[in-house]
Amino acid sequence: MDRILIRGGTPLRGTIPIGGAKNAALPLMAASLLTDETLTLSNLPHLADISTMSKLIRKLGVKVSMDGDADGGGHVGRVFGLTAKDTSNTTAPYDLVRKMRASVLVLGPMLARAGRARVSLPGGCAIGTRPVDLHLQALEQLGAEIELNEGYIEARAEKGLVGGHVVFPMVTVGGTENLLMAASLAKGETVLSNAAREPEVADLAKCLVAMGATIDGIGSDTLTIQGVERLHGATHAVVPDRIETGTYAIAAAITGGELTLQGARADLSEAVIKILTSAGVEIAETSDGLHIARTNGPLQGADMMTDPYPGFPTDMQAQIMALMSVARGASMITETIFENRFMHVPELCRMGADINVHGSSAIVRGVEGLSGAQVMATDLRASVSLVLAGLAAEGETVINRIYHLDRGYERLEDKLSTCGADIRRAAE
Ligand code: EPZ
Repeated sequence: MDRILIRGGTPLRGTIPIGGAKNAALPLMAASLLTDETLTLSNLPHLADISTMSKLIRKLGVKVSMDGDADGGGHVGRVFGLTAKDTSNTTAPYDLVRKMRASVLVLGPMLARAGRARVSLPGGCAIGTRPVDLHLQALEQLGAEIELNEGYIEARAEKGLVGGHVVFPMVTVGGTENLLMAASLAKGETVLSNAAREPEVADLAKCLVAMGATIDGIGSDTLTIQGVERLHGATHAVVPDRIETGTYAIAAAITGGELTLQGARADLSEAVIKILTSAGVEIAETSDGLHIARTNGPLQGADMMTDPYPGFPTDMQAQIMALMSVARGASMITETIFENRFMHVPELCRMGADINVHGSSAIVRGVEGLSGAQVMATDLRASVSLVLAGLAAEGETVINRIYHLDRGYERLEDKLSTCGADIRRAAE
């Protein structure tokens, strides 16, 4: 298994290109199952999760053409043409779903188009139990008959789905996406209340509209969908990754450097920008992205609580904790979305951070500096928080189990080393 080795202490300077958002690309790829015409997606990031989704939809009959050769099961293309002519296989098997929970996003589109779907139940994962009960209840409200058998969700709607009013009892990104796709081909009107407002949900909705769907309220918490009989092909560019943006903004801040994040959009990251600014990070919009600098002395601690969009994203919680661990004063960080998303805490503490967890809150008392150590990556965002800590730490940090990073950060070591970081990957 590969490891990442970092010698910290160099302020980063340079330009980092921001890729398309993983969490937008995955549902967009699933949306190709809704039509027999070609859906062309551009600005796709090169990530392990994209390769896994591509494998899954191929299994479900989608022909995938790329603007480059697929090598060793991965992909090099950034533009995919996805054509789902044959929808006779409607089983998403355990071996792919267990690798990536977002596989459950094929449920809504398959059920809506083929009238049936069999999808392995995703298990829990490192950050929490993460059930899909809300996806299933909502699909039942559109007339689906759902049974759980031998670890599989077996869903049927032989005569097609019928529009209805779904009130989500809590905000769910994947649940909203599954329902948006299903409702686009249901008979009549569907209203989704307390829908997720994440930019990735809006990106999916815009793509569905380009495919012929009728959706009102995009970007709000009430989505109204008028079902249509069929959808057609379209071309859509994936929205920039706001989590990759926030992560590299923190890389600039934690090393006391200056980075231009090419292609980054401030309007997608307002909550993160607000906290970083209050901590003393300078952020400016440029003609092609964002410029991030920390040149005027020490950082100040700040309190924050994760919340559904437009609140502070849970996917940035580990990274901001790494930053706050070297800021002046105390910061309180509260996680409200997942029940077990503090696994980076003991690892950051091994590097000298002073963090105490009380239930769903962590009290971070800023220290003068971190020191390099051997640490273990546990999930995608926890892993990258250790990279950020390593960039600021004195001495060498060795991060083990880094396969998580490849699921969500494209060419992480290249992007950072181009800006001066001493970071490399080594085989164990
Ligand atoms: C999406 O996961 C993202 N994944 C996650 O990103 C992100 O952390 C999360 O949204 C929250 O923003 C993708 O978009 C592929 P949810 P999702 O349904 O859709 C509970 C990353 O690092 N819940 O909004 O699975 C659930 O357990 C990843 O890139 C139910 O109880 O998240 C959680 O506590 C990690 N029942 C909360 O809701 C359900 O049926 C929010 O989950 C569905 C969800």
